[in-house]
Amino acid sequence: MTKKVAVLAGDGIGSEIMAQALKVLKALDLDLVYEEALVGGVAYAAYGHPLPESTLKLAKESDAVLFGAVGDFKYDNLERHLRPEQAILGLRKALGLFVNLRPAVCYKELTYASSLKPELVSGLDLLIVRELTGDVYFGQPRGRRISPDGLFAGSEEGFDTMRYSKPEVERIAHVAFKAAQGRGKHLTSVDKANVLETSQLWRDTMNRVAKEYPDVTLEHMYVDNAAMQLVRAPKKLDVLVTGNLFGDILSDEAAMLTGSIGMLASAALNEKKQGLFEPSHGSAPDIAGQNIANPLAQILSAAMMLRYSLDMPEAADKIEKAVKRVLAEGYRTGDIWSEGCKKVTCSEMGDAVVAALQ
Ligand code: IPM
Ligand code: MN
Repeated sequence: MTKKVAVLAGDGIGSEIMAQALKVLKALDLDLVYEEALVGGVAYAAYGHPLPESTLKLAKESDAVLFGAVGDFKYDNLERHLRPEQAILGLRKALGLFVNLRPAVCYKELTYASSLKPELVSGLDLLIVRELTGDVYFGQPRGRRISPDGLFAGSEEGFDTMRYSKPEVERIAHVAFKAAQGRGKHLTSVDKANVLETSQLWRDTMNRVAKEYPDVTLEHMYVDNAAMQLVRAPKKLDVLVTGNLFGDILSDEAAMLTGSIGMLASAALNEKKQGLFEPSHGSAPDIAGQNIANPLAQILSAAMMLRYSLDMPEAADKIEKAVKRVLAEGYRTGDIWSEGCKKVTCSEMGDAVVAALQ
């Protein structure tokens, strides 16, 4: 049966990189239909809301969402619920996308681009499994009020709530253990159990679920230590599972180890394997409209979509191989360029990947 992809390019470089991903997908001639809709700042400008009803409806009735990026300086002063970022939070919540897979892969041709010594990152292949619909991001109550007690009683305060329920931790634990089974059979769970109740529940739950996966070694790490280990010896880590906030922070850190945030794809999935696939980088409004952005993260996000939501693993392999081939052939957009390589534009990079599909 023909599957449907919602194409939400969003703001900034979103439309330029999305055009390249669509070019690659269409070259594979798959049994897919694509439907585009506005999201983020461009949707706010057109409809007064970053996630209009019609866009949400399209996302819900699609098998997968291919997402570009949202955000622009122009919208920084809007009220929080109207900011472009709310579109992505709203989609995660509405589709129940509780699993966030964020691979950090250092391609051998790009080792030089990392801020760490080449020997620390060459061959790095790390998977961060981030819980995506809970934690302090969505916990209630939250808000602003006049502080009712304590040293600063009577002053204005802001408050958020860090919360996780047992089943919420269990379901992400199962995803992470299964991912570890398919890789190095080593799982690192990251928390702050020396301070936080939420983290203690997280740790207890991980230990319990671990009994169902005797072939996987589970290790616990405090988040501050994890931040340190990521820059000290990242290759000792394989699969890392953590909550929403810690995962947000650590995945940016891990992305930078690879030297090229313009290369990293990510997947957000629900129980039904419906997913939203997006590059790990943002909308880069400073370089939008110049045809110089790196489209490879968007193209690799399309590959993840084929693999995780659309049951087309061979097509996903083809795209990933083609990306490796263009890197080996020396094609580079400005963000990953170095002496002796072929400097290409965003659309030329898309063409090169299509040509490398063979
Ligand atoms: C991310 C982003 C989002 C997050 C923002 C834009 C809401 O930083 O996908 O990592 O914090 O989850
Ligand atoms: Mn982030």
